[in-house]
Amino acid sequence: MRVLGIETSCDETGVAVYDGELGLLAHAVYSQVEIHAEYGGVVPELASRDHVRKTLPLIRQVLDEAGLAPNGIDGVAFTAGPGLIGALLVGAALGRSLAWAWGVPAVGVHHMEGHLLAPLIEDPAPDFPFVALLVSGGHTQLVDVAGIGRYRILGDSLDDAAGEAFDKTAKILGLPYPGGPELARLAERGDPLRFRFPRPMTDRPGLEFSFSGLKTFALNTLHRELPIAADPMQTRADIARAFEEAVVDTMVIKCRRALRETGHRRLILAGGVSANRRLRERMDTAIVAEGGETFYPRPTFCTDNGAMIAFAGWQRLRAGQSEPLAFRPRARWPL
Ligand code: KG4
Ligand code: ZN
Repeated sequence: MRVLGIETSCDETGVAVYDGELGLLAHAVYSQVEIHAEYGGVVPELASRDHVRKTLPLIRQVLDEAGLAPNGIDGVAFTAGPGLIGALLVGAALGRSLAWAWGVPAVGVHHMEGHLLAPLIEDPAPDFPFVALLVSGGHTQLVDVAGIGRYRILGDSLDDAAGEAFDKTAKILGLPYPGGPELARLAERGDPLRFRFPRPMTDRPGLEFSFSGLKTFALNTLHRELPIAADPMQTRADIARAFEEAVVDTMVIKCRRALRETGHRRLILAGGVSANRRLRERMDTAIVAEGGETFYPRPTFCTDNGAMIAFAGWQRLRAGQSEPLAFRPRARWPL
């Protein structure tokens, strides 16, 4: 079975074709980042409009790259939520309509299930069961994954998601949108020993996260240090590094704890923040030291993409699931 996947939940248009036997045949992502950059964040209305412009041409491009005519597609998967409702409606309406026109089934995919299953597209893919750390702009979740669709949430963020904390702290440091990757780049030049930020909620048991205090810590440090700084750019880099170290350290501690509590030895990381180099390095060292194993998608499949939706959709379709013609995407939708 060959599945066309469409992702339009936020500011990336992602399209891919996944073949149950051959694997990924083609994929493409178009990012709207330049459109939103001047506003310092995603403008939902502009995101929807741009998805309308970009999705069909991207589908044609991906079908061409896969060497397929529309009749080579056996099913269509689209992101059904959570996300920006207008943006979701574009992908859902197009995906559902194309499937109807082509006479094939369609399935709506949970965006976070897409992220969660993305490491399974890679080689080697992890076997079940595993613990997943999902870290994106909207979510920070530890999940016990027994199999496809068998998810138990172990811990969540009580306030800001990890990516949100990166983006807000980046803004405080005067970095352009999208802040997360910019902050990570700046942190590479930072001194890890100059400032020490707290590791929130690690001093008590449990698998919850809280990241909103870290951005305040960054703001206070900046206000205290900048007026007396000999090299303001270095001070910013040092703050970025201290922030990143604190987030990474916190995640390492919680992941180690989640593996111990579940008894699993495999850990997968997914979602935009899992593209962070420092996080991968530190997590690998810590988990391998405990006899565990880590898995990640390639960086382009950490952030939003169509491949994860095509793959998750293929899993759902081959299990016999599909949507009726009247279908409603959901802006909010727990995993
Ligand atoms: O999964 P994703 O593309 O979209 C959502 O579903 O939210 O994640 C985007 C988030 C943003 O907050 C972005 O700043 C963050 O992932 N991000 C990073 C890095 N690359 C993307 N954060 C830290 N380091 C990175 N290298
Ligand atoms: Zn995402």
